[in-house]
Amino acid sequence: MLEHLKEQPADKILSLTTAYRADPRPNKVDLGVGVYKDAEGHTPVMRAVKEAERRLVASQDTKVYTALSGDQVFIDAMVDLVLDGAVARGRVAGIATPGGTGAIRQALELIKLAAPSAKIWVSNPSWPNHASIINYLGMTRQDYRYFDEETRGLDFDGMIADLKTVAAGDVVLLHGCCHNPTGANPTADQWAVIIETVKAAGAVPLVDIAYQGFGDGLDEDAAATRAVAAAFPECLIAASCSKNFGIYRERTGILMAISDEAARTGITQGTLNFLNRQNYSFPPDHGARVVGMILTDPALRADWQAELEEVRLGMLGLRKQLADELRRLTNSDRFDFIAHHRGMFSRIGASPAQVEAMRADDAIYMVGDSRMNIAGLNARTIPLLAAAIVKAGA
Ligand code: LMR
Repeated sequence: MLEHLKEQPADKILSLTTAYRADPRPNKVDLGVGVYKDAEGHTPVMRAVKEAERRLVASQDTKVYTALSGDQVFIDAMVDLVLDGAVARGRVAGIATPGGTGAIRQALELIKLAAPSAKIWVSNPSWPNHASIINYLGMTRQDYRYFDEETRGLDFDGMIADLKTVAAGDVVLLHGCCHNPTGANPTADQWAVIIETVKAAGAVPLVDIAYQGFGDGLDEDAAATRAVAAAFPECLIAASCSKNFGIYRERTGILMAISDEAARTGITQGTLNFLNRQNYSFPPDHGARVVGMILTDPALRADWQAELEEVRLGMLGLRKQLADELRRLTNSDRFDFIAHHRGMFSRIGASPAQVEAMRADDAIYMVGDSRMNIAGLNARTIPLLAAAIVKAGA
């Protein structure tokens, strides 16, 4: 049997981490996988997470199975964090999932059950695993324009023109905030037009929100997702806790499925539970309990928000320093977009050959499409990166 297996394509993001670790050069710079790092290159356990884990270990007296949907405290708290009452709670079904990836996978499986021939519209570019999972499930994908290679900002006109061609019943995958990989995001006014266009098409939105709190703030980053949820009769939302709680390996995420009326929520919830059962029975629990505890304890929540805000402001500072340094070196405002982008990433617009040259000559590791993780930078490496970008001719 196993002799029939074929080599699978290596994940472009994760294989970069392996290559980085194997590089013996001491001055190497890792701008690859989307993981937050402090100025020393360390990914810390957040203070509130440490405290919640301490309390959990002390108080938990059983490891018996939780519900198929996951811990209800977590689900309620996350629905609140993401939606803040944008839709009636009775319309929202939810399951805990293994991270944001699990939520996307379950969302696509749900679509497959409900509308097997629906096309999934995905921004070009998008997080590569979106297309990979869609293909793996044998579903149909169609790209919509998103990024303007010239300005390195949003190609809003192209995006709207493409979304106008979406067919009724198709699904449009939208990044709720902090677009991955580009860092370019619609304004509130542009979101209103996107919503109007997708709604006019009769399509269903699937929002992927994996970086809430990394852009303009927790509520600001959820504003578009809330507007989408409020505007559509039906909507799917995949949210990740990996980044904003820094609990990557705990695999903590949620899929919300919003029905047009509360009377349909029961069957939607039952289907989500069924999908959890088919794929892994019960979702991982530890990270979900930690998140649930933090969000429902005012002191822990305040401390978590304060630390997340430090992280967010730190990344904004790095964006500005890098844009300033490139302004100084190029004597132009060509790279100012880096300061305008939001979230963990910016796509700087270098060609694959230029990205490769930066890796070979300067030990700078960014994804082949020139996506860089801003959190991988610090005061020492910003001048090195800026010089390498200029030298590579990006
Ligand atoms: C990323 O885009 O780097 C992260 O979302 C990590 C991943 O799973 O790819």
